[in-house]
Amino acid sequence: MPTELQSRREPQPLRMQDGAPIVLEHVSRVYRGRDGADVRALEQVSLRAGAGELLAVVGPSGCGKSTLLELVCGLQAADGGRVACAPAVLMPQRDLLLPWLSALDNAALALRIAGLSRVQARARADILFAELGLEGFERARPHELSGGMRQRVAFLRTLLAGKPVLCLDEPFGALDALTRYEMQDWLARTLAREPRTVVLVTHDVEEAVLLADRIAVLSARPGRVLAEIEVEIERPRVRTDPRVITLRERALGALGMGERR
Ligand SMILES: Nc1ncnc2c1ncn2[C@@H]1O[C@H](COP(=O)(O)OP(=O)(O)OP(=O)(O)O)[C@@H](O)[C@H]1O
Ligand SMILES: [Mg+2]
Repeated sequence: MPTELQSRREPQPLRMQDGAPIVLEHVSRVYRGRDGADVRALEQVSLRAGAGELLAVVGPSGCGKSTLLELVCGLQAADGGRVACAPAVLMPQRDLLLPWLSALDNAALALRIAGLSRVQARARADILFAELGLEGFERARPHELSGGMRQRVAFLRTLLAGKPVLCLDEPFGALDALTRYEMQDWLARTLAREPRTVVLVTHDVEEAVLLADRIAVLSARPGRVLAEIEVEIERPRVRTDPRVITLRERALGALGMGERR
């Protein structure tokens, strides 16, 4: 089983007005409660991700991480501050594969929506299927796939949307540790081949250190940025590297989890 995370790509020549494909400045989001009690999900969040960067976001449950991704993708609007982003696609927290479509057609869905014929869309998805270890499962329905396979199909669908920015919401959250390790390695290799700017929400601090260029640590609700940690460790990265362990501890410390374990 691969344990090393492959080297990443060169930054893409993708530019927004001020040079970064993702910019959040003093962003706030308040959900209006039905009984009048508002839920402040995010407060004064300022973050940015440069072209080709992988920004990991970690924070306690309910601190606004999924909300943040939806703001970045333009699926909801901020109540305060500014969000600017290049075209982005969301891989939601649950894989949301369509049960009546085959694995291949699920992966090719964005291409079909973009107007490609079924034959063209399937052909494009098919090339990546083999590379992702899904060969032989093209015609399987989602319920016939393992959890890791479903995640890969969902990721493939996200990738094939062809957007420069990928927002991944706990893509490996539901997987057991061994499968997660494989998927992390696979994601690193895939991004090395198919460069994108990525926001990766994860509850796994080690995963953030292994994959990210920078980690934003959010507070409990309302989510605010408690710390930003640069990960300047060359790739491939390994879990046992003392620098990985040190940064993991730093992130846990910022979350207030340092001494509790
Ligand atoms: N559509 C909504 N309407 C009302 N409240 C919402 C809505 N979506 C999220 N919330 C609330 O906003 C807060 C942040 O939710 P969000 O899903 O962004 O958190 P999260 O950090 O992704 O949590 P988790 O780690 O459990 O996935 C929560 O208190 C949640 O109940
Ligand atoms: Mg969430």
